[in-house]
Amino acid sequence: MTYTPALSRYNKMPYNRVGNSGLKLPAISLGLWHNFGASSSFDNAKAMCRTAFDLGITHFDLANNYGIPAGSAESNFGKILQQDFKNHRDELIISSKAGYDMWPGPYGEWGSRKYLMASCDQSLKRLGLDYVDIFYSHRFDPETPLEETMGALDTLVRQGKALYVGISSYNSEQTKHAAKILKKLGTPCIISQPSYSIFDRWVENDGLLDTLKENKMGSIVFSPLAQGMLTNKYLDGIPDGSRASENGFLKTSDITQVRVAQINALNEIAQARGQSLAQMALAWVLSKGDVTSAIIGASKTEQIVDCVGATQNIQFTSQELEKIETIAKP
Ligand SMILES: NC(=O)c1ccc[n+]([C@@H]2O[C@H](COP(=O)([O-])OP(=O)(O)OC[C@H]3O[C@@H](n4cnc5c(N)ncnc54)[C@H](OP(=O)(O)O)[C@@H]3O)[C@@H](O)[C@H]2O)c1
Repeated sequence: MTYTPALSRYNKMPYNRVGNSGLKLPAISLGLWHNFGASSSFDNAKAMCRTAFDLGITHFDLANNYGIPAGSAESNFGKILQQDFKNHRDELIISSKAGYDMWPGPYGEWGSRKYLMASCDQSLKRLGLDYVDIFYSHRFDPETPLEETMGALDTLVRQGKALYVGISSYNSEQTKHAAKILKKLGTPCIISQPSYSIFDRWVENDGLLDTLKENKMGSIVFSPLAQGMLTNKYLDGIPDGSRASENGFLKTSDITQVRVAQINALNEIAQARGQSLAQMALAWVLSKGDVTSAIIGASKTEQIVDCVGATQNIQFTSQELEKIETIAKP
């Protein structure tokens, strides 16, 4: 059936400026790491993209290695773009990344110019696009000079293959260095993509959030629901079909008794606020004003609807914040 996007799609979603760039991102973005590859239902993946766009999610986050097998999330999203979003390309922000293991041999991962340039070309082919909106170095490469990795990002922009560039999972010191190199090259590093959630605080301890502010960069945080732990999914243990039940990136062993107790205690605060736990967890990352967008993952359209509801209340009382801190402490 032909898809016609909801006319109401821009009515509720807040759009936040990425650092001091001209780009704005929706407060909630959708990531295609899990559940969009060839081993997942294509119809469900397509339904999730439609639901997201209908709710004002204009940003879809990908990487070369997403999907099982790697690359298939980009291929599937390319098909979805062709079938549903062909006439809406200019309403979309599509990102991809290179950094992790993608093809055999010495040129298939990390941060060399050879790998980044080839990987971006492969991603564009799979996506069926002339350019991505944001291209990221997916991880810091301790062996390649940062000048080379950032130089490749700059070249991709100059070749018209990426409009903006960013870095992912770089710590504060690495970010300062990357930002300085890119500034000198005349291609600003506009965005950083770290993990961040009530359960995952490395960006606070590392000083990354302050560094981003100092460098006028935006931030888009991944796994804001701690891969589903900050939802009502694991209140009573591990349900069938959940990410933890697959024992992949989220391990069965991550769902400890202590974790389940924390999840239940946080759920009580969420209920008192009139939110689902997923909504409160997203509101929490967005409430501090340091985060431009939170990238959620999803396995069902209903989860996206629930998550987008978070934007309706991102204010917290100091008592709520204190309670969350007490519960979240390891
Ligand atoms: N740059 C990087 O290195 C990096 C690394 C990881 C992720 N990312 C990006 O961040 C995106 C999100 O990561 P993530 O999938 O780990 O994020 P997440 O939002 O923390 O977790 C997503 C999972 O939470 C569950 N969920 C979502 N909404 C729910 C709801 N309302 N109620 C109940 N359960 C809900 C679903 O689990 P079930 O599947 O169990 O239903 C879903 O798959 C990725 O797709 C990717 O784009 C980037």
